[in-house]
Parts: sequence; structure tokens; C-alpha cells
Amino acid sequence: MKIIIDSEKRIAELAAQRYVKLLNEKPAAVLGYATGSTPLGLYAELIRLNKAGAFSYAQATSFNLDEYAGLDGSHDQSYRYFMNHNLFDHVDIRKDHTFVPSGLDLSPETAAAYDKAIEAAGGIDLQLLGIGNNGHIGFNEPGTPFGSITHLVELTESTRQANSRFFASIDEVPTHAVTMGIRTVMNAKSVILMAIGKAKAPIMKETLQGPVTENVPASVLQLHPDVEFYLDYDAASLL
Ligand code: PGA
Repeated sequence: MKIIIDSEKRIAELAAQRYVKLLNEKPAAVLGYATGSTPLGLYAELIRLNKAGAFSYAQATSFNLDEYAGLDGSHDQSYRYFMNHNLFDHVDIRKDHTFVPSGLDLSPETAAAYDKAIEAAGGIDLQLLGIGNNGHIGFNEPGTPFGSITHLVELTESTRQANSRFFASIDEVPTHAVTMGIRTVMNAKSVILMAIGKAKAPIMKETLQGPVTENVPASVLQLHPDVEFYLDYDAASLL
């Protein structure tokens, strides 16, 4: 495990350099992307570097971690919409090479097919993660089996509360989501987890220094052979 602690701006720049290096070495790389507030600085930096010609996404493929149940890609709170607006619309990636789990077809077969599509693409080279205050990665809430693949989940109240800031009211926050499983994430060749802000400090301590337990989903990353944590000073303040 490698832990990088720096300013919010600098960790975005350092994480972006991982993509520059990977996509220059392997132009057809398979990328696992995440949504939320945390990756926004990284995405802005990737857009800047892509426009400046530091790397190209022309041959790359991406798979997003998760999607809200019930929202189609045109809904402004769907994760497909988030990715288009915050990254894909501004870089040279082929939209038909970008994948987000379906929020509308919630069948177990379709969920399992997402893992199959990742495998068929050659597996994820670099998976980006944020972390919930409760330790969730993707929408794998505490208690999710480490052996899980892409599946439908019920969101915890704390996650719905945390995400209600993007909706008019908590009642509009979906109750379910489709997420890559823990095994899907652990199958990635390399993983980057980013965390920013004081609110993430307690869970980062548990994730990095506590026991590996399904009660803290992100703690499983202690077992990953190639994982880097990019923390700002606040998120690292209890380590
Ligand atoms: P955030 O969400 O980046 O908006 O804090 C992270 C997460 O819930 O995984």
C-alpha cells in the first residue's frame, strides 16, 4: 500500500499523472471511474492534460462503478450524466467505449453481464475509488460480502443523507443502486482511492489502520497488491 498525503490540488495532479503514464504506455487501457465530489479536481486536471495533448483516450475503454436505480442517463443526477458532463464530453474518449451500469434494467443477469463485459475488455487496469463516510466503495455498503460482483443494493440512510445535497430533497434520492461488487473492484490490476476533507479522516484511519472487515468495505484494499491512497491533509489528519 502506498499512501500519498498532500494538498487537495496536488493529489489531483499526482493522480492525474498516473493516467498520463498508463495511457501513454497502454493506449487501449481499461479505466474504472468513480463519481462524487472527490474526483472532480482529478477530472478537471485530466481534461486539461488531454486537451494539452499529454495523453489520448482514443483507444481507451471505461467502466463506471455504479448507477442509481431508476434514473436513466439523461437524468441530471444519474452517474452517466455526471460522467458525460464532468469528463467524457471534454476529452477524446469514444462515448461508445464508456460504460456505466444500467439504472433501469436491474436484473441480476444484466448486473452479472457487467462483470463479463469488464473481463471481455481485458480487465480494469486502473480503478478509481472515492470512499463513503461509512467506508463504502462504489455503493458497497458495510456488510457487503468481499466475494460480491456487480449487483443491486439498497442504499443506507447515511448514504442517502450524504447524497441528498445533490437532490431537491431526501425523498428524491433513489433507495437502490447497481454497483460493481467488492470482487469486481479487487480484480482491477491497480487501484487508486482518493479522499478529501476532515469528514473522511475517521474512516481513512479505520480503512488503513483497522482490521480488514466487511463492516468497513474499503479495508479490503489492504489486501490489494497494487493500491495507492491519495489523501489531502485533512483526510489524513487522524493517521
Ligand atoms: P464523495 O463521495 O466523493 O462525494 O465524498 C464518495 C463516495 O460516497 O464514495
